[in-house]
Amino acid sequence: MISLNKMALCVLVVGTFLLGLPHVTMAEPTDEVCTILADVRLADPLGKIAAEFQFRTGTTVTLETRKAKEVEAAVQTKQAAADVVLIMAERPGRAEDYVSPAVEKLSGAKAVAWKYPTGQPVWAAVVGDHPAAKKLLEFIGGPTGHLRWSQSPDGFTMTTGRTHAEAFKWVVDNRVGHTYTMTASRMIRECGGMKTGLCIDIGCGTGNLAVELAGQTELTIVGLDIDADMKPLFDKHVAEKGFSDRIRFVEGDAQDLPFDDDSADYIISRGTLTFIPDIGKCLREVDRVLKPTGVAFLGGRYLYTPQPDKISDEKLAKIVAECGVKSAKLITDRGQWVKIVGAEAPQAANQVAVGPHLLSHRFIADTRITTGEALVLCRSDGGLEQGLQQGFLENTSMKLTALYPNEEVAAEARKRIAAAGLTGRVKCIVGNVYGIPATPETYDAVLGVGPILLWGEREKGMKEIHRVLKQGGAALVGGRFLGMPDWRKTPSAVLRASAKATGLPGITISDDMGQWVVIRKGVGEGGR
Ligand SMILES: C[S@@+](CC[C@H](N)C(=O)[O-])C[C@H]1O[C@@H](n2cnc3c(N)ncnc32)[C@H](O)[C@@H]1O
Repeated sequence: MISLNKMALCVLVVGTFLLGLPHVTMAEPTDEVCTILADVRLADPLGKIAAEFQFRTGTTVTLETRKAKEVEAAVQTKQAAADVVLIMAERPGRAEDYVSPAVEKLSGAKAVAWKYPTGQPVWAAVVGDHPAAKKLLEFIGGPTGHLRWSQSPDGFTMTTGRTHAEAFKWVVDNRVGHTYTMTASRMIRECGGMKTGLCIDIGCGTGNLAVELAGQTELTIVGLDIDADMKPLFDKHVAEKGFSDRIRFVEGDAQDLPFDDDSADYIISRGTLTFIPDIGKCLREVDRVLKPTGVAFLGGRYLYTPQPDKISDEKLAKIVAECGVKSAKLITDRGQWVKIVGAEAPQAANQVAVGPHLLSHRFIADTRITTGEALVLCRSDGGLEQGLQQGFLENTSMKLTALYPNEEVAAEARKRIAAAGLTGRVKCIVGNVYGIPATPETYDAVLGVGPILLWGEREKGMKEIHRVLKQGGAALVGGRFLGMPDWRKTPSAVLRASAKATGLPGITISDDMGQWVVIRKGVGEGGR
C-alpha cells in the first residue's frame, strides 16, 4: 500500500473535526491501517460507516476526502494512496447515462449506492492490497452501510435497479423482506383482528405486504400505487404466491382514491405516507372510502428511507390534528403510524395489546434473526412473558426455550402451552440467568422483558447470556419499567458501567423506548 502523505492527513484531521465525524482513528498509517480515499460529498455517511467497521473488526480505518475531480485524477494517474476508493458520478440523469468516473473502470468496482432521488451512482473499488479492503467494501454496501447512507443529511439510499420500482424491489429483496410478516401481524391486531372483507393497501409497491396479509387472513386486497412500473412486479409476486384470485393492482394517487365512499373495510399502508405530498388530503380520502365499521392503519418504520423523505413526529402530529378527520391519531410506538377507527368499528381496534409483540418487532427489525433457537427469560408466566412468547411465535419460525425460576411455575406454563397446542414450538426449562442450564453457543436469540438484569449479579447474568449465544446471535433484555418507583430503578449509567465491566464485546445499553441490555455477538446494526 502506498502511504498517505502527512499533508493530506492534516487536512483530513481538521476537516473531520469540523464536520464532526466520529471515531475514525486518524493515525499515521501502518501496514494494518486500511485507508479510504473518497469524494468529499460522501464524507458524512462514510465517516460513520468506517467508524462502525473499525469498532466491529478492530481494523483501523482512515478516511481521506478530496474533491471528486482530485479523486478521479488520483485514480487515473495511479496516485490513489488508498485501499478503497469511492466517488459519486457527476451528471444528472438515469444511472445508465452516467459518464463513467475513473474508479468505475477499476477491476472489482461496483455501484454501492445511488443518491436518491437524482440517481447519481456512488462507485467504489478496492485499489490497495489490504486484506480487509474487500470486506470493508462489502460492509459499505451492506445493511449497516445502507442505514448510514439513508441517514445522511444528503439523503442517499442504497439500491440497484433501472427504475424506482426495480430499485425498490432490490430494497425488499436485500433489506426489508423479513419485516413483512410482523408488519402484517401488527396491522391485523391494530385493525381489531381483521380476517375478512375488502382491504386497500395504499402505495402497495411490489405486493409483499398484500401477500403477507392474504396469507394470514381471508381478506380481498386491492393494492394501489401511483407508479405503473410496480404493476408487473406486483402481479408476478402475487401470482407466484398463488393469490391472484384475492389480490389485484390499481394504479392511482393516494390523494385522490379511485374508490366509492364507504366501500373499504380496512385501509392499510406501509412505508408510503411520507412520500405523499399532501398527507392531510390522503387522510381525508381514506376517511371517505372507509366504512363506518372500518379501521385504517398507515405508516412505517422508515428505517431505510432517505433523510429528506422522512417527516418529524411533530410535523406529522400537526397534520393529523388539522386534517379534519376527527378519529385520526398518531402512534409513535415502533415506527410512525396514523390510525383511523370508524365510529362503528370493533372495540378490539381500540384495545390493542401490542407491548410484548413490539419487542419481537424491534428484535427482528434490528437483527434480522427470525430462525433458529431462542431462549426466553421468564421471571413468571404472566401476561408479559406470554405476550413475549406469542410475539416470537407469530413473527418468526424460531423454536423457543422458556427459562422459568422453579418447577412449579414451569409446570403451570407447560400446561398452558400444551392446551394451546404449542409443545412443538415451546419447551420449558428451570434455572436462572446467573447459571443458564445450556452449553455455550446454543441460542440464536436471548430475550427477556422485566427487571431481569436490573438488580443482583447482573454482570454474571450478562456474561451468561453472552456465553449461551451462538456466534451471529443477539440478545435483547429489558423493559420500559413505567410503573416502577424511581428508587427501584437502576440508572442507565450504572447499567453501562456493569456492561463495561463484563469486558464483553458488542454489549450496549439502549435507552430507546425503555432501558435495554443489547448484546450482539458478531451481529451488527442492520442485522445478520
Ligand atoms: C417505500 S415504497 C413501499 C411499498 C410497499 N408499501 C411496501 O412496503 O413494500 C412506497 C410506495 O409508495 C408509492 N407512492 C408514492 N407516492 C404515492 C401516491 N401519492 N399515491 C400512491 N402511491 C404512492 C410508491 O410508488 C412506492 O411504491
